[in-house]
Amino acid sequence: MNVLELATRKKQGERLVMVTCYDYTMARIMAQSDVDMILVGDSAAMVMHGENTTLPIDVPAMATHVAAVRRGAPDTFLVADMPFLSYRKGLRAAMEAIETLMKAGASAVKIEGIAGQEELVQHVVASGVPVMGHLGLTPQSVHALGGFRVQGRSEDDRERLRREAQACQEAGCFSVVLECVPESLAGQISEALLIPTIGIGAGKHTDGQVLVLQDLLGLNDSFSPRFVRQYLDGRALIGDALNRFAQDVREQSFPSDDERYAE
Ligand code: KIV
Repeated sequence: MNVLELATRKKQGERLVMVTCYDYTMARIMAQSDVDMILVGDSAAMVMHGENTTLPIDVPAMATHVAAVRRGAPDTFLVADMPFLSYRKGLRAAMEAIETLMKAGASAVKIEGIAGQEELVQHVVASGVPVMGHLGLTPQSVHALGGFRVQGRSEDDRERLRREAQACQEAGCFSVVLECVPESLAGQISEALLIPTIGIGAGKHTDGQVLVLQDLLGLNDSFSPRFVRQYLDGRALIGDALNRFAQDVREQSFPSDDERYAE
């Protein structure tokens, strides 16, 4: 997958599949799956590091995750999130952050919001780095938004999001994530744009869908919004495996003769 193929897939009406990933082992599994793109999201702060928001993760930590995922998935299109404020401290600081993530193995970067960032996005794109936009619920603005809540409920908000989506396209974004917006609005934006939209909690009319890996695998019992579909009861399966190991150790049935080194 590359940015040209992504655009073709939209023209052909073929849905795009993106899943988040943060580590080498999962990346190896994902590289052999039917997933089109990996997102090394700043959601790593929450699902990998136990933070309450995405704000605490920084560029070096993101680069460590990107490098691990790239080692596991050498040929997969990999989008890396620009962490909180890393692109709001001037052009030089933003470009240094992008350089770090791209050299760690990213194929593209994702930047939340577009207002006041049009020139930055243009510069990044003109520098040869593909940019994915992210509109709607932008988790790095959680405090300004008053929490993790659905966006685009009022007509003013819907109009703003339509304008921002056009601005992402005009600035040169190759794609845009629409997070937690009403299905009808996501559908209108997807139809109006030439670039593919990737939805999360945005209904079925976007050009693709993204989910957080740990949500999809049922590993996260503290987060179950209506837009998540669990494809595995991961917590139960892993918990059961751990309990069986504990039982085998206590019963001294592990290790067996085949699981040890004889003289
Ligand atoms: O960081 C992330 O996981 C994301 C997705 C929710 C789109 O940005």
